[in-house]
Amino acid sequence: MTAYILAIDQGTTSSRAIVFDRDHRPVAIAQREFPQHFPASGWVEHDPEDIWRSVLDSAREAIAKVETKTGAADIQAIGITNQRETTVIWDRETGAAIHPAIVWQDRRTADLCDTLKDAGHEAVVRHKTGLLLDPYFSATKIAWILDAVPGARARAQKGELAFGTIDSFVLWRLTGGAVHATDETNAARTLLYHIHDHCWDDDLLDLFNVPRAILPEVRDSDDDFGVTAAALFGRAIAIRGIAGDQHAASIGQACFQPGMMKSTYGTGCFALLNTGAEAVLSQNRLLTTVAYRIGGRTTYALEGSIFIAGAAVQWLRDGLGIIENAADTDRMARDGDPLQDVYLVPAFTGLGAPYWDAHARGAMFGLTRATGPKEFARAALEAVCYQTRDLLEAMRRDWPRSEGAATALRVDGGMVANDWTMQCLADILNATVDRPHTLETTALGAAYLAGKAIGLYPDMESFAASMRFEKRFTPEMDAAVRERKYQGWRRAVARTLSGGR
Ligand code: G3P
Repeated sequence: MTAYILAIDQGTTSSRAIVFDRDHRPVAIAQREFPQHFPASGWVEHDPEDIWRSVLDSAREAIAKVETKTGAADIQAIGITNQRETTVIWDRETGAAIHPAIVWQDRRTADLCDTLKDAGHEAVVRHKTGLLLDPYFSATKIAWILDAVPGARARAQKGELAFGTIDSFVLWRLTGGAVHATDETNAARTLLYHIHDHCWDDDLLDLFNVPRAILPEVRDSDDDFGVTAAALFGRAIAIRGIAGDQHAASIGQACFQPGMMKSTYGTGCFALLNTGAEAVLSQNRLLTTVAYRIGGRTTYALEGSIFIAGAAVQWLRDGLGIIENAADTDRMARDGDPLQDVYLVPAFTGLGAPYWDAHARGAMFGLTRATGPKEFARAALEAVCYQTRDLLEAMRRDWPRSEGAATALRVDGGMVANDWTMQCLADILNATVDRPHTLETTALGAAYLAGKAIGLYPDMESFAASMRFEKRFTPEMDAAVRERKYQGWRRAVARTLSGGR
């Protein structure tokens, strides 16, 4: 029987399952979208049962596809990667969630974050977690659920409830409730984890009023996470890797050396710059995060997080109805009038790095009677490029050693199939943009962790040497045009910021 690895990629809008062969090539893919719930302005929820069903169905379908092709498939291990920060609390007895999952984009705890900031807690939070006091992260979401659901806080204290980011929740379900664990990349996104001491932090637990009894155990990204309940796939399969999706993409892009950088364009956009064993504290409102912990050694990264990238294209389709599918934007942007200085600041759920304005909301500037759907599409795609430039500039200032890295960017995610956007990105950044052959780098990263853990995949050096790029985009834009356009973006953002509350 041929050996395979299954990667489960539980994302913000869909769950995907991808089977990789021993040469780390994807051989079968299955995907299930699930509903998004927006119960109030700035609130975003998922039904944990939708998430679980989409994971299970896509995993079963991907395995079945391989079996149809090759007869019996020997899935030797599973790697999990996931939308990060999204918070689920469930009953340890029944496995049922006590509240919908509060999604990373959700802003309902903005006021609580402001109160904690006003009370002067941000410096210590930054020092310990590398993060900022923003509703993006899990801690205030946990506290909100414990306060909103009658009796939940008391039950949490008694150890009857479990908290998890999506990896933990999926792991719990896959193992039939046998394992309550997470990996260090996911723990590092909760605001409760000390990224230098590598443990849950009691002072932070007190600050956010989160009982220790609900927390999962933190393991390495390539650790042993138990086995699947036999009933799920007809046999027990070892779970040997977990990493948050952006971290898995860094691994899948083989960004293993300090100075290497990747940027993933999914719902949002997340750029991670590997800083090696050094945890660089940002002076420019970037995040310090765990890139991965492999073999007991933590590698750190500087991260820039943008909340809306592909989601702006989704808005053109579902909100405005001016495109039929995402691929239309490539042609529309090409045909759009380049002389119209139209800017979309997609602060639909506030602004992330480097602005961190939870109260800002989206805006468009420069509209005239001549502005139409094509210019809207162009502005949505350009916004992604301008925001990436904001991140790169902050990284250059934070870590002068990144000067070299900031001239080459490895990209992945759904949006990078769009050639116009990738050329625009190279132009606005004045940097080369490398698009790999395998665009499924997030899933590949999870598969690599599991495959390496069981000895099916090679060491990191050989894996990095096997990376192949499909296309390189190099800057073509006139420098003066680039700067004029970017300064226009900066002015548009300045007019969108909420100025506090
Ligand atoms: O931090 C949120 C991020 O992990 C979500 O990623 O790919 O679902 O937009 P994505």
